[in-house]
Amino acid sequence: MQTIENNSKPKRFAGILLHLHPAFIKEDAIAFKRTFGLGGMAALLIVIQFITGIMLRFYYEPFPQKAYDSILLLQNSVLFGQLIRNIHHWCGVFLVIIAFLHLLRTFFTGAFQSSRKINWLIGLLLFVLIIFSNFTGYLLPWDQLAYWAITVGTSLLEYIPLFGNSIREFILGGDEVNANTLLIFFNFHTAVLPISIILLMVYHFWRVRKAGGIILPKSDNSTSVVPTYPNLVYREFIVALALIAGILVFSVFLNAPLLTKANPDFSLNPTKAPWYFAGIQELLMHFHPFVAAFLIPLVILFLLSALPFINLKEEPSGYWFHSEKAKQAAKFSAISSSIITLVLIIINEYSPDFETLLPWLNPFLSNGVIPLIIVLLILWFYYRYITKKFSLSYLEVVQTMFVFVAASFIILTLIGIFFRGVDMELIFSWNF
Ligand code: HEM
Ligand code: HEM
Repeated sequence: MQTIENNSKPKRFAGILLHLHPAFIKEDAIAFKRTFGLGGMAALLIVIQFITGIMLRFYYEPFPQKAYDSILLLQNSVLFGQLIRNIHHWCGVFLVIIAFLHLLRTFFTGAFQSSRKINWLIGLLLFVLIIFSNFTGYLLPWDQLAYWAITVGTSLLEYIPLFGNSIREFILGGDEVNANTLLIFFNFHTAVLPISIILLMVYHFWRVRKAGGIILPKSDNSTSVVPTYPNLVYREFIVALALIAGILVFSVFLNAPLLTKANPDFSLNPTKAPWYFAGIQELLMHFHPFVAAFLIPLVILFLLSALPFINLKEEPSGYWFHSEKAKQAAKFSAISSSIITLVLIIINEYSPDFETLLPWLNPFLSNGVIPLIIVLLILWFYYRYITKKFSLSYLEVVQTMFVFVAASFIILTLIGIFFRGVDMELIFSWNF
């Protein structure tokens, strides 16, 4: 490691990277396990999406009669066309996963409090925009998969009370997916969303610097600083190369899906929403649509946004999970939540639901309110149990309950993506 003593001035030619970083950085901040390079990876993926996206635009035509054929032309007749499309497709998938892991890392190191409040909110907004970017891109190939996934995805909007239908029609530019939808999605995908993401990203980076860099343990009093170049920049370079290599391997061997041309008269069975909405689609199998597609996602989004403003009565430690016992509690929560979620899904699949058992009751009460009360009771009992078992502080309880809910949502998403077959029946073999 180069220190100030043996390298009194950082090399000036580190160029643009030094505009993103200060010239000197605390030695502690460059340890890989502090961030796992996830924020940087997300940034690189976005840059790759821009470059490959612009390349795709040279051939892509956003009209129902031409879109599918332009993708075929790109794949079959353009040099590296298939590869560029694959890279754009897989980077879209990785971006959601990496941004989610980055969200977890900032959450578990407590980097959502004090001077980092706003950046947490900007991050959440970036995450939503990334989901929208993927969603709008999904329709563009105009094949059966795209057409029906967007049809199911946008139908979730209908469950928003009062305005749901109007919002859906506004977004679709009609009452079903049509030529207007393709044009609207294309413009959002290639102009509105990318510009918004770039602007927010710049602000996000600026706020990291304004907060004095990434969060570090308070107890760590070491003040030793090292030049950012080469100490941090080299490490970032290695992470970037490893990521690019991984993407290339993936994209060479796995083609982005393309079914037959979209046919509005013939739906796929099962018709699945895009994979990042599979968790919500899975919830629809167990709850009244208002609860599954509206109430639960809204409450989760609200709680995540409110998180920095809840008075937790303690400062974060800057360590992963805050303490050793909180780490144990988080592991315990992830395992118990996964088991409980799986058991509930199986019970619900093979036993009559409350709507059948209580036919005289309004379906909103039988299939919405009753299962919701059961879930809230489970959460309440779990909260009581875990707080006692590990004698946790406020911050640790919040982290542990978050793990419980996040693990459950991940299981729901995996079941939705891989274990739902024809007519969305639960199946026990891999179906993708
Ligand atoms: C955050 C950034 C972006 C994400 C997450 C993203 C994601 C996606 C996804 C998931 C698809 C569908 C790919 C497939 O399966 O076929 C797609 C298609 C497409 N994207 Fe993007 N994209 C991004 C940025 C851009 C930008 C900046 C442009 C151009 C300026 C662009 C242009 C296109 C085009 C032309 C297609 C249709 C070609 C195809 O589907 O292969 N994208 N995008
Ligand atoms: C496009 C997506 C994103 C990009 C490119 C990005 C990039 C970055 C980078 C490079 C850093 C500094 C180093 C690091 O933590 O790895 C950072 C920090 C941070 N990010 Fe993100 N981020 C994104 C999304 C998010 C999301 C989804 C959240 C959470 C909701 C978030 C919240 C934060 C916070 C709170 C910090 C400060 C962390 C600290 O001080 O330790 N970001 N981000």
